Amino acid sequence: MKKYLDLKNANDLTKLKEIAEIIKKSGIGIVPTETVYGIGANGLDEKAVEKIYLAKGRKQDNPINLLVNNIEMVEKVAKNITELEYKLMKAFFPGPFTIILNKKDIVPNIVTANQNTVGVRMPKNDIALKLIEYAGVPIAAPSANISGKPSGTDFKDIYNDFKDKVDFMIDGGESNIGIESTIVKVIDNIPHVLRPGSITAEEIEKISGKVILDYEKINNNIPSSKYSHYKPNSKCVLVYNEDNEKMIKEIKELAKKYQNPLIVSTTENMSNYDVKNIINIGSRNNLEEIAKNIFSTLRKVDEFSADIVIFEGVETKGIGIAIMNRLKKACM
Ligand code: TXA
Ligand code: MG
Repeated sequence: MKKYLDLKNANDLTKLKEIAEIIKKSGIGIVPTETVYGIGANGLDEKAVEKIYLAKGRKQDNPINLLVNNIEMVEKVAKNITELEYKLMKAFFPGPFTIILNKKDIVPNIVTANQNTVGVRMPKNDIALKLIEYAGVPIAAPSANISGKPSGTDFKDIYNDFKDKVDFMIDGGESNIGIESTIVKVIDNIPHVLRPGSITAEEIEKISGKVILDYEKINNNIPSSKYSHYKPNSKCVLVYNEDNEKMIKEIKELAKKYQNPLIVSTTENMSNYDVKNIINIGSRNNLEEIAKNIFSTLRKVDEFSADIVIFEGVETKGIGIAIMNRLKKACM
């Protein structure tokens, strides 16, 4: 790594000019966003984007989204943008919202894995926005994790995984939201949610009048859906029952069948389990807190050599939908 920047508590972001220079010279590195950290490079530079695929061990048929800092930059990379697509961007940019648009030729095929569409997001993070401004180009940035593993939200985890694989690292503190953006593609003037995130289908519906949920479908327009994701090393099971007492009972019975079970419990339920290995993922009454903790928890799980990991589920409403979506994928 050539350059490390600690901007956790910084007000002055001018040091990002040095990172922008690295980006202009085809360098790659770790960039904080409000959802999860990204591993970023100049999104218009084929050679640089190729390095991202190598560093992550990402399959080349899995496209990468672009981070932008204004609508003019969206218009540089995307064409035939419809009125509804503009409306959605106006409502949710900057924020945890990625929209799939028709790509322009300026975007290299390696970014989009040869598709004619490109995902675009304007992050709500001052460091990321300033860096894009200084670099003057969209930044291609998938989540900062080795492919298949949990996304990175804690700088320490990312540091260990990537210090030898990137040119720069920016520590921006813990990711605010902790779960990746909601991905939407407008098809026949109806938004389809391809990946749930903290912007919910209800919020999208308020803008568009209609919304279609595609994320549980097998062929859901997301190229990566055929790959496993977020997987801990141990076998894992997700248990949910809307009756909390029943859920605890089910988990206890399941744990009894194993020698060395690990339970990932919510704060309120911790004292109900009589096992050696237990992790607190956050309060059931504060799903935002659970979202923030989910990926660091999925990484922590690997420190126990458990013969089974049992996750408590949460109610599938609001951001709970995205939480359950990630936990289901982890346990698939
Ligand atoms: O919050 C986020 O979106 C984070 C931060 C870093 O911005 N990024 C992120 O990137 O989660 P990644 O690459 O881990 O996930 C992006 C997903 C992948 O599943 C990819 O297959 C899908 O978006 N994707 C990218 N381009 C697409 C396209 N043109 N059509 C459909 N899906 C696309
Ligand atoms: Mg990812």
